[in-house]
Amino acid sequence: MKDLLSSADFAGKCVFVAGGSSGINLGIAERFAEQGAKVALCSRSPDRVAAAVETLKGHGGEAMGMAADVRHYDEVAAALKAAAEAFGPIDVLISGAAGNFVAPALGMSANAFKTVVDIDLLGTFNVFRAGYGHLSRPGASLIAISAPQALHAYAFQAHVCAAKAGIDMLVRTLAVEWGPDGIRVNSIIPGPIEDTEGMARLAPTPEARQRAIDGVPLRRYGTKSEIGDAALFLSSPMAAYITGAQLPVDGGATLSGAGRMGEAMELAFKEAKAAR
Ligand code: HXC
Ligand code: NAP
Repeated sequence: MKDLLSSADFAGKCVFVAGGSSGINLGIAERFAEQGAKVALCSRSPDRVAAAVETLKGHGGEAMGMAADVRHYDEVAAALKAAAEAFGPIDVLISGAAGNFVAPALGMSANAFKTVVDIDLLGTFNVFRAGYGHLSRPGASLIAISAPQALHAYAFQAHVCAAKAGIDMLVRTLAVEWGPDGIRVNSIIPGPIEDTEGMARLAPTPEARQRAIDGVPLRRYGTKSEIGDAALFLSSPMAAYITGAQLPVDGGATLSGAGRMGEAMELAFKEAKAAR
């Protein structure tokens, strides 16, 4: 029998990462680039896109990037089309663009709530919907980057909880609809990850950071490459029978509810109020 471990070969595969210009998503893109994949990415800022493409090329392979806002279907569709024309059918499609700020529901305008839902949830629909026609079928792996907010209710995160829970249900729905085409659709739930914009916003002080760490059974923040490894696994033949799954990569953080992470966010909110 063929060894599945040695068949996890991404050389020459086409990977597209929406929101891939920084943080966890760039970390995922880098893991695929290290494995020899051709990586395309998009985000809003042309400068950040250009810098990320240079980073990816530093791994020795091909990379390209386009400025596109995932809230606008036509921009996303154009970026995906350009990637498929340059690199061939998309084997791995990752939707990771997100927005977050710490605010109580009563401190958010309707537009504030909508902004995050549009980036996270509508953006993921746009990426997967516009990507469908460019996927390698059968065999493509689609991954949404979700969050613990999809599983637990956190004060000051009404917008993110609603958006990420929506993403995970969208993932399951698409797994059902597109499974017969040989397309797998999963989500990753990262725990608190080191050196990211997300944790800079949610745990901005040493005290808040410590609360967040106390909430992780493995007692540390995760790394971007650990999320990249999970994306490699989900896109490999070793995960050939996995679809519609939510994979926590979180040191156990989501096992015991919002808990300490919720306390970290409360401190983040106090900090933001004090700064005003
Ligand atoms: C209340 C706020 C606010 C705040 C913005 N708004 N910040 N409301 N409290 N702190 C409101 C604005 O007043 C406005 O409403 C509306 O939100 C849109 O704001 P804009 O600045 O016009 O939006 P935009 O330029 O599109 O920027 C989107 C953004 C921004 C989400 C607000 O922060 C952003 O670009 N973020 C991307 C990077 C990011 O957030 N990364 C972290 C991802 S981490 P009005 O009514 O005034 O028009 C993550 C989860 C981590 O997602 C989980 C860890 C466990
Ligand atoms: P980040 O560095 O801010 O990443 C967000 C990326 O999305 C940026 O590259 C940003 O680039 C892009 N983006 C934002 N809005 C966009 C839009 N409208 N259209 C296109 N691209 C857009 O934050 P991060 O902390 O690494 O988070 C990355 C992902 O992991 C998010 O989905 C987040 O919810 C998830 N997550 C993070 C953590 C954590 O510990 N950090 C934990 C759980 C889940 P531009 O500004 O150029 O658009």
